[in-house]
Order: sequence, then C-alpha cells, then structure tokens
Amino acid sequence: MPPLRRSLVPIALACLTLCGAAAIATAPAAVAADAAAGASVRERSAFNAGWRFAKGDQAGGASMNDAALRSGADVPAGADLSAARVDYDDGAWRKLDLPHDWGIEGPFRQEYPGDTGKLPWWGVGWYRKQFTLSAGDAGKRIYLDLDGAMSHATVWVNGRHVGGWPYGYASWRLDLTDVVKPGAANVVAIRLDNPKDSSRWYPGGGIYRNVWLVKTAPLHVAQYGTFVSTPSVTPAAATVDVQVTLENHGADDEVQVATDVYLLDAAGRRSGAALAHRDVSAPAKIGVGRQVQLTQALTLAQPRLWSPSSPQRYVAVTTVTSRGRVTDVVETPFGVRTIAFDAARGFLLNGQRLPIQGVCQHHDLGALGAAVNVRALERQLEILREMGVNAIRTSHNPPAPELLDLADRMGFLVLDEAFDTWREQKTPNDYHTLFDAWHEKDLRAMIRRDRNHPSIVAWSIGNEIPEQGRSEGWKLAARLAEIAHGEDRTRPVTAAYNHVASGYNGFQNAVDLFGYNYKPGEYAKFHASAPHIPLVGTETASTVSSRGEYFFPVSDDQSKGQANFQVSSYDLSAPRWAMPPDVEFRGQDDNPFVAGEFVWTGFDYLGEPTPYNSDATNLLNFTDPAQQGRMARELADLKKIAVPSRSSYFGIVDLAGFRKDRFYLYQARWRPDLPMAHLLPHWTWPERVGQVTPVHLYTSGDEAELFLNGKSLGRKRRGPRDYRLRWDDVVYQPGTLRAVSYKNGKPWAEDSVATAGAPARLTLAADRAALHADGADLAFVTVRIVDRQGRPAPRASNRIRFSLSGPGRIVATDNGDATSFESFQSPQRNAYNGMALAIVRTRAGEDGRMVLTASAEGLGSAQVVLDSQL
Ligand code: GAL
Repeated sequence: MPPLRRSLVPIALACLTLCGAAAIATAPAAVAADAAAGASVRERSAFNAGWRFAKGDQAGGASMNDAALRSGADVPAGADLSAARVDYDDGAWRKLDLPHDWGIEGPFRQEYPGDTGKLPWWGVGWYRKQFTLSAGDAGKRIYLDLDGAMSHATVWVNGRHVGGWPYGYASWRLDLTDVVKPGAANVVAIRLDNPKDSSRWYPGGGIYRNVWLVKTAPLHVAQYGTFVSTPSVTPAAATVDVQVTLENHGADDEVQVATDVYLLDAAGRRSGAALAHRDVSAPAKIGVGRQVQLTQALTLAQPRLWSPSSPQRYVAVTTVTSRGRVTDVVETPFGVRTIAFDAARGFLLNGQRLPIQGVCQHHDLGALGAAVNVRALERQLEILREMGVNAIRTSHNPPAPELLDLADRMGFLVLDEAFDTWREQKTPNDYHTLFDAWHEKDLRAMIRRDRNHPSIVAWSIGNEIPEQGRSEGWKLAARLAEIAHGEDRTRPVTAAYNHVASGYNGFQNAVDLFGYNYKPGEYAKFHASAPHIPLVGTETASTVSSRGEYFFPVSDDQSKGQANFQVSSYDLSAPRWAMPPDVEFRGQDDNPFVAGEFVWTGFDYLGEPTPYNSDATNLLNFTDPAQQGRMARELADLKKIAVPSRSSYFGIVDLAGFRKDRFYLYQARWRPDLPMAHLLPHWTWPERVGQVTPVHLYTSGDEAELFLNGKSLGRKRRGPRDYRLRWDDVVYQPGTLRAVSYKNGKPWAEDSVATAGAPARLTLAADRAALHADGADLAFVTVRIVDRQGRPAPRASNRIRFSLSGPGRIVATDNGDATSFESFQSPQRNAYNGMALAIVRTRAGEDGRMVLTASAEGLGSAQVVLDSQL
C-alpha cells in the first residue's frame, strides 16, 4: 500500500471551524462513550421548510435586560428579544419556506432610494422554526449551516444565544450540539438587522439562501474540511492532492482516512469504478477536542480535463474510519485543469490561451429578488452561454454556492469576489463597519467554501476600493492577498481597480493579477510599465440601454436623458466613466496580452438605474466639458422630477431575461463561428415615414448588404477594428428591411425586420415544458404580442392577465421595463415593447398538468401546457 504523504497538524478547534461569532465553545463534549458507537455517517438535510416570519422586533414580555437572551449577542440595547424565547407564541406570524427575500415583496415606493431598487429591503426581521431531533441523534454533532442571511444575523436555539454572522453574503455554521435536545422539540430563532444605506445595489433582506441541518459523528471531517488540488497535470497522469481536516469531539483517538476518486457524469452522478484509491496504512492519532490535517496524494491516469467546452468533473470520496467503524463520508466534486494568467499571453487553460469572455453579475434574480433559485440561475447561465459568455464575475460579493455548482457543471470560469469596500466607505453602513473585525473570517470562509470548484480561476479581494487612492492603501491589499494565499496557493489574487493611479502606486504589486475597470486606454501603458504582471478587464463597457427603445436623431453622443426614463438601444450610450462595447473590443484587440474582459453587466439587476438615479456621478456623459455642463443642468432638472427607475439599464439582457440588441453585438464577437446577423432598430415607425432612421447590423460575418423592400442600400465591409456595420442615412418607409451577411465572400447569415400591423394576438413560449414537482423548479413563460400575420408588435404595451390551473403557482411577472412599479407578484403586467414574462413554480410532491393562460383585451388569450413530474 502506498505510504500516506502525511502532514499531521494539530489545530485547536475553535479557530478553524469558522463557526459563528459567538458560537458555543467547541471543547470536547461529554459524549457518552457509546454514543460514538451508534454514530452514523453524516446527514445533511435542507432546513428550509416550515418557518414563521415577522418583520420588526416583536413585543412579548421579555425584559429588555433579559440577560440570558442578550448574553453575547450583538444586538442594540433597545431591541426587544422576546421572540428569541422558547415559549414565545409565534402562532400569528406568517408561515413560509426559505429561501425568502422580504424586500422583493415591495411595495415599490417613489421615495425609496433608486440605487437599491425602490424596494423595502432594510430593517429587522425574525424567523423562527420548531424542529424535532430523534433520540438517536444523541451523541451526534449537530450543526446549522446558513448559506447566506441578509444581514447581521443573531441566532438563539432553545432560548440560548448560539452565534451569528453579520456579512450578508457569507456562508457560515453554528455548532448547536450543546444546546439542542435529542428526542425532543427544539426551537431556533434568528434575528436579522439589515441596515439602511448599506448597499449600492439591491441586496435583498431575509434568509435568502438555503439553510441546512448537518449531523455528524463526533469524529468527522471539519466544515469545508477537504481541499482537492491537482498540482501536476499531464496527458498521462494527474496528481490529485487531497487535504483533509478532521475534527474530533469524542473519545476516539485513532483515525484512518481513505480517498477514492470517481468520474462524475453530466448529471453529477458517479460513473464507473473508483479510478484511484488511497488509504492510510497506520492510523493517525487525533486527540479529543483537536483538529488534524492530513494530505493524501493520488494519481489519476489519463485525466479528462475540465474546461468550459468540456466541463468534466470527478469526485473525491473521503471515508473516515475509527477502530474499524466508518464515522464520516464526504464527497468533494472537483475538476482536473491547469490555469495560468500570463503577463504576455493572457489566460491559459490547460496550457491553451482562452480569452475571457466574461460578464459581471449581481446576485438578484430579477422579479424573484435575492431569494436563490437554482433554475433561475441556470436559466441566466444558459442565456449567457448562448451569447458566448465563458466567465462570470460575482460582483461584488461571494455568490450562492449553487451558482458555483452550476458553473462547474455547465462550464463557466468564475472570478469569485469578496468585498465592495474595505475600511473606507461607499455608503454609510456598508462593509467598512465590519471590515476590521470580520475581513479575515469572511475572506477565509469564502475561500474555504469555494476552493474545490474548478470553475474558479481567481480570487478578487475587492472592487473599486477607495483605499486604492491612498499612498499606503496597497498594504491592506497585500494583507488580504496574504490571507487568500494562506488558504489557496493554486489561484491568483486580483482586485478590480478603477483609478488609473492604482496601476502604478503599489497596488499593482500587491496582487498576482491586475484588474482594471473601464481603462482600455491604459492597457498598453500598464503593460509597458509592468510587463511581468498579468492584466484583465475586471469591469468593462457599462453601456446602458432599454430593450426595444430607439431615440432619434442617433449620434455617438447619446447622452441626453429621455422623458420616458429609457435609454436608446443603439448601444452608443454610456456613463461618463464608461463606453460602448466597441471601444473595449478595440482595447482588447490592440493589446492581446490582456486576459479578456468582464462586461458590466450580463443581466440587468435591481437598483443602480444609471443614468436616472439622481446621482451626479452617474450622468450619461462623454468627456466633452460642454456636454458635462449640459448634463449637470439636466441633472438639476432630473432632481426636480420624480425619477421612477428601479432597476439597471446596464444589462446585455434585461431584467426579465429578454435579450437586448447588445446581446448580438457580443455574440458576433464571442461566437465567430456561429452564422448570425441581427438588425436594429425594429421597423415599425409610422411617424417616421421619410425620415432618416439609421440601421445597425451585428454579425459574425465580415460584410453585409442591406435591402429595404428589396432595394439594395449598399454592401459594407467591416474594417479591422469595426464591430458593427452601420447604414446611417436610411430613410424610413414601411416594409421589410433585410440584411444578408457574408464571410470570406460567401453568404453567411441573414436577418430581417418587418413593419408590424396593429397588435392582434398573444403567443406564449415556455423555456421548458417538463418540470420537477419539487416546489422549487420554475417555468419562464414569454409572451409576445404579434399582429395578424404573426409579426412581433415591437411597441405593444397591452395589459396581460395571467392565470394558472394545476399544481403550481404564478410566482412573479415582469416585462424588463426599468420604470415599472408594478408588484413583481402581480398576475397582471403590461407588455413592454411587445413582451412580458410569467414565472411559474411547481408544488412539492404534486405532479400533473399545469395550464398557463394569458389574455389581453382585444387580443384574446393563449395557453401553454407545463408538465410537472415527480
Ligand atoms: C462600477 C462599479 C459597479 C457599478 C458600475 C456601473 O464602477 O464597480 O459596481 O457601479 O460602476 O457602471
């Protein structure tokens, strides 16, 4: 048997488990000797069902000074903690299942800040749940794992404070072993306190991610206790290093660890026999109340490499045995791949250059808010993949773990980001209030949770942190990079810098990979001054547009705000610091050492409705001072009017998941082998007959000819740094506009748009016809309004009413209009530029046929059938 490459590192338990702030002491529990005998292998079950919820602190008779409840809890002195008591009567509270976001329920209010979505996400909220443990749970370790709670969570179990965690994007664990009662009813109470002015975008409020109850034997693998890396990869073999951290709360003192590696199929199931195996010849000693780390090296012959085009995964199965009994089994999916950011060649995956075609994404899921939903995330990724996206930046915080699982499985690279601020604030109550006490715990927690994901290619320690302008600021960057390196040496550390100066003032040396936000003009200079530092566009473009809106006259200065609070979709509009996509493309093409870009943003998100967020810095504005003066005047005017915008215009895809024109500009560049052509604008302009109406074409071809009603308007060729074809002097007449594109002289792709008649009927299309009857799966149903001939009516705004029969529920509707204040839960919705969306959710355990009906006055109704399957 091969010898164990062992490094036995005893560690005191408390520091490594990353338990919540005031987690109970993890000293050896007085576990009945025999409890371990009955100790079964770990159980991890969803702890999402059957909660009670109330907004605000609840009066209930607890004395303000109830020392037992308050002890160790970080709550304001005046807060009434009655709801933390075991005997508190929560019978009148609302029943709900997690994940839950109280903010998305609204209502929208004009007076709420637009930057955070004009929704009420802040304040105090309480969650309570009764749960029963079986008598057989005696002697087990009982943990509560929260993937994310927004924010400042404090937790009591059976009336005792057990801990909490303030950062709303962190995942964390509480050890409940000493406070729960096996064989009896228990109660957990969680108080969240989400401060106002704590975010630059819509954060959501509530326990918006999944919660898990984990039971283990006293001797088990610690939280995030496996770390799989592949230090050497050749076509013949990969070395797989498995580091295991074990934790012992019981009397056992001997432990053996075995690791088996299997291939995973596309669905994540083990396929075939173990491909590699390693175990310990002699048992390791592990003292009571200690942690130890072991490292095992395995060899995987002819590894199948993970990549976006072939996201092959393996799983390492770690089996912990003590005196002949299995006490724990942990599965760690991983991938075999090599990554490198090379200062001269950009990003290399498995030794090959792979330009990063990335987008930044905020965490909200549009009409569903911040409450995580796997299908909603998967749909976003499917749409982005169709555009050619191969990378996601989790701006500006750790994502839901489910996003990373999807990225591994579907083949996306991920830039995993920790913070939007350090010590200096962007908003009065943001992360800077936590930084000193929490940055190390938060950064370690993110990396330990996420480091087995093959998708993750770099850790970002921050976005546009104000310290980048300070002469000593780089020291903080260096400290954070050191923490990250301490947790994971296999990936580079980066940060997203928006000050030109940070490329030269020491920050560039504090990270392994330098990230510039909105600085394509700086790439060459940076590279010349630091030819050894790899560079990536961590945030690019920030073009703004509203799906289906076009304003005239069209010019490269699209800076003027519009009375309807929309932005033209000619894709020429950007705020002062930003630019149309084409400018960044030029920066990338002129400087091929740049590893690629992350566009701001893939999808529209709630909040930050630039240019209509009444913030002087966010005016649409190019560099000309005269324009700036004009914009300042317009801003003053803007402040006098009530700006209704509640969501962003930055997305390449709108909030409802509908593709804007820009989608095709990126697709043309990122999928050059896909024959495609996309014309804009739409061609239904009865008021523009005889007027100049410029036409743009996005195509992966290199040349195209445009025809209006069969007459050629000329054939144009793209220059080496042109990314769109433009016919700027087309005079509008109704009819059909058609483009034929060519590549290397051969016909390549076509697109046409036709003038629509009056809206006549509805069409419905579901993204999937068969759903899982699990209470979480969703169907996204798109409504299109068409004329009598079936041509899309691009300006229709008819009111649509939805109803559903069968085992499901309409959980949200939307239309992608950033100015709509209609409740997302409303079953009625005006179409926005001809389209609307209904989101249907299945019911757990109830299968059958669902029929979604959409109807609109004068347009009749349409139906789609959805099949919910067990
Ligand atoms: C960046 C910032 C993003 C977003 C974006 C809008 O400076 O990092 O979070 O605010 O601007 O253009």
